[in-house]
Amino acid sequence: MTAPVDVVILAAGKGKRMCSSLPKVLHRLGGIPLVQHVIDTACALGARRLCVVYGHGGEAVRDALAASDLSFALQEPQLGTGHAVQQALPHVGRDGLVLVLYGDVPLTRLATLRRLIAGEEGTLRVLTVNLADPTGYGRIVRDEAGRIQRIVEEDDATPAQRAITEVNTGIMVIPAEKLPGWLAELSNCNAQGEYYLTDLVALAIHDGFPVVTVQAEAGWETVGVNSKAQLATLERAYQLQRADELLTRGVTLADPARIDVRGKLECGADVIIDVNCVFEGNVRLGDRVTIGANCILRDMVVGDETVIAPFSHLEEASIGVACQIGPYARIRPGTRLAAHVHLGNFVEVKNSSIGERTKANHLTYVGDSEIGRGVNLGAGTIVCNYDGANKHKTIIEDDVFIGSDTQLIAPVRVGQGATIGAGTTVTDDIPPGVLALSRVKQVAIDRWKRPQKKVKGEE
Ligand code: UD1
Ligand code: CA
Repeated sequence: MTAPVDVVILAAGKGKRMCSSLPKVLHRLGGIPLVQHVIDTACALGARRLCVVYGHGGEAVRDALAASDLSFALQEPQLGTGHAVQQALPHVGRDGLVLVLYGDVPLTRLATLRRLIAGEEGTLRVLTVNLADPTGYGRIVRDEAGRIQRIVEEDDATPAQRAITEVNTGIMVIPAEKLPGWLAELSNCNAQGEYYLTDLVALAIHDGFPVVTVQAEAGWETVGVNSKAQLATLERAYQLQRADELLTRGVTLADPARIDVRGKLECGADVIIDVNCVFEGNVRLGDRVTIGANCILRDMVVGDETVIAPFSHLEEASIGVACQIGPYARIRPGTRLAAHVHLGNFVEVKNSSIGERTKANHLTYVGDSEIGRGVNLGAGTIVCNYDGANKHKTIIEDDVFIGSDTQLIAPVRVGQGATIGAGTTVTDDIPPGVLALSRVKQVAIDRWKRPQKKVKGEE
């Protein structure tokens, strides 16, 4: 890239057709706000400066994007796309190129933008695309020689112009030195009473300044989101693309149309993912990991050979190699599992570490605990970590055997190799090696009479 490129992202529009109080550009695609996709692409381009024009929903837009190194220009009121770029003028240089992107067009490929930027020097460049249904877009009007003349917005177009299927994507590269003068010349004498950025084309041609078009390859690259229906359609297009990437890398997907990746999913070799799984944030799956149907994983690291059975929900945790999780397991933040751990149905673990080969196969809650290796937690074992005000820690050392329906009242420590009888309520530390029991001894009362139901009228 020779000339420096400053990027202006237009994100001030109301997005009325979204029927939402959330600013349009903050609606999420693949779990990421629409405008964040555009910002990420602009950053990957190596833009010199990056300015977001915001207006509707003002501070919410600024705050949502505060993490990135951006400048912001307020457009208030919103008088059109040309007026929006005008507000960004103080944030762009006087040399090089200005690339205008739309905050509601999230999926434009880097390669496409690079082609646009690499175009002939001293030209105004417009990214266009051919659409089977051009409804709603600005049409590209050409002369007999095929040279672009101007862009006509749908509301201003004649029936003949409406039949044109080559449309304006909205994405433009403008020589920075020309931009202020052209913007000052824009008028709002049009159907929408707005200052259209698209009128720069006719202005440039009037000045004898060459205008060139570059075609985007895929329609989805240039699709804007104006309604919930378009957002849903684009989400599916995006997810299919993500699924394709996974298949290309050798991941087995039971159905590429039934997976959702909302963030980054890294997979080792021979990973198998069944239908309807959702991956959020950063998820890393090791080699030969199998994920059953209907699992949700958010910010997880899963070791090689581990099997997550259907309907499990896992977040912010790390799982060692060759573990068996679920079905119906819930792994909550701060859980760290060593190798070969088994957690079965209706087992919930939070903020705890569990050692190698430990098993909790049925109906168990473990919170704020340190559990050693080779421990067996019987069905219905509950760690009572919360006293109503504070959380307390439970420590269970290696090779402990816990009988079913045991409650451990934290803080408490169970020594290595101890055995706890079924139905025990553990209130005190248990020394290593002992058998601990707290239940009443079973008695058999002869000829026991159950209470009788009172008959009406009798006292
Ligand atoms: C615009 C183009 C149209 C193109 C289409 C592609 C104009 C006049 N028309 O139409 O040729 O085919 O995009 O998607 O440019 N915005 C502001 N401030 C404003 C108005 C809009 O920041 O005052 C932002 C919006 O937030 C949005 C973008 O500019 O990100 C496009 O605005 P929108 O109203 O959606 O334009 P379209 O009618 O779709
Ligand atoms: Ca639009």
